[in-house]
Amino acid sequence: MKSLRVEADQPYNVHIGIDVFELFSSQYRELLSSADRIVVIADKKVASLHLDSLLQFLQPYEVSVFTAPSGEHAKSIETFMDCHSFLLKEGCSRKSLLLAFGGGATGDVAGFVASTFMRGIPYIQIPTTILAHDSAVGGKTAINHALGKNMIGTFYQPAAVLYNIQFLKTLPQQEVRSGMAEVIKHAFISNEEWLSELLRIHSFNELADDDWMLHLERGIAVKAAIVEEDEFEGGVRKYLNFGHTLAHAIEAYLGYGKITHGEAVALGMAYALLLSGHPRLEEFLAWCQANGYPLEKIQEISFNDVIDYMKKDKKSSKGSLNFVLLQKTGQPYVEAIDEEQAQAAYEQLQLKIRGVLL
Ligand SMILES: NC(=O)c1ccc[n+]([C@@H]2O[C@H](COP(=O)([O-])OP(=O)(O)OC[C@H]3O[C@@H](n4cnc5c(N)ncnc54)[C@H](O)[C@@H]3O)[C@@H](O)[C@H]2O)c1
Ligand SMILES: [Zn+2]
Repeated sequence: MKSLRVEADQPYNVHIGIDVFELFSSQYRELLSSADRIVVIADKKVASLHLDSLLQFLQPYEVSVFTAPSGEHAKSIETFMDCHSFLLKEGCSRKSLLLAFGGGATGDVAGFVASTFMRGIPYIQIPTTILAHDSAVGGKTAINHALGKNMIGTFYQPAAVLYNIQFLKTLPQQEVRSGMAEVIKHAFISNEEWLSELLRIHSFNELADDDWMLHLERGIAVKAAIVEEDEFEGGVRKYLNFGHTLAHAIEAYLGYGKITHGEAVALGMAYALLLSGHPRLEEFLAWCQANGYPLEKIQEISFNDVIDYMKKDKKSSKGSLNFVLLQKTGQPYVEAIDEEQAQAAYEQLQLKIRGVLL
């Protein structure tokens, strides 16, 4: 097991491995035994696959389980209210404990419930996706509003993150790709050697448990370091948005759920690398192609399809588009790019991708 500490407003530990649930009877015994109720908020699909493996380690306690819709559907005001109703009916109080069991979506809604139930109760993140190495750390919680994703939420740190990598084995390939895009993003913004290691992977299936632990731990360390410096998103935290300006535009243009977030981020990173003149763009495109990222979407989507969405990006100010760029690995910065330059770069990327896809 690997463990690392996140020095947030309320510090907490992240544990990664196959044996993390053993900590329920050691390090976290006090937290569990002092709770008057323990409630698991579980992604429906994850519950059907893995709930028994979790409950096995919670046998000494009486645990109630709320099953939330799987994936993004959980991030609704209805599910949020259903969770609160469940907690109230179960007789939960300010001394109760929540366990968030699922991917980033479940973590986001369960964290939001934890932060609002009776003005806040402790919760443990038990992430089950690769992408959740990112979402489980940093304390952002959210649900979606009809007018925008993640529009309602709080900053609220978990009491701990227990990352059991056994669960990753049942992830669909598309979700593996989605999560690995955020892993390689963390490498791009931090460490050339690690980036080289990742770029050598030609199939995620070839990774062993130890490799997963290593890459996830490094990803979490990068996220944690940035969050520690900027817990409430005033400065360096924006570097985590590397690749995200175009990614969010592609997701919005295609309609949420038509492409996974990470797959869109991979395309967005390719674009940001081209805009930056980063020397490893070609290598990255080959990596995307080998690992099944949908590069063809860049061929199918025109610059005009996405420009208005990019202008709406949180980072963009009037008239210009702001991107996180990266001339050198590990040295991100934000730069304003004018529309003509952005268009020329997009068309250049389409040409390069045509070459890769041939
Ligand atoms: N809070 C943050 O800082 C932060 C950061 C990044 C992303 N997010 C949020 O995270 C969400 C995306 O998270 P995600 O990519 O983990 O997706 P997700 O939670 O939507 O899960 C994706 C799919 O995988 C399934 N699944 C989860 N674990 C599985 C397993 N072990 N085996 C088989 N299937 C499994 C789910 O049922 C779902 O269908 C988005 O809502 C995004 O806004 C939050
Ligand atoms: Zn992201």
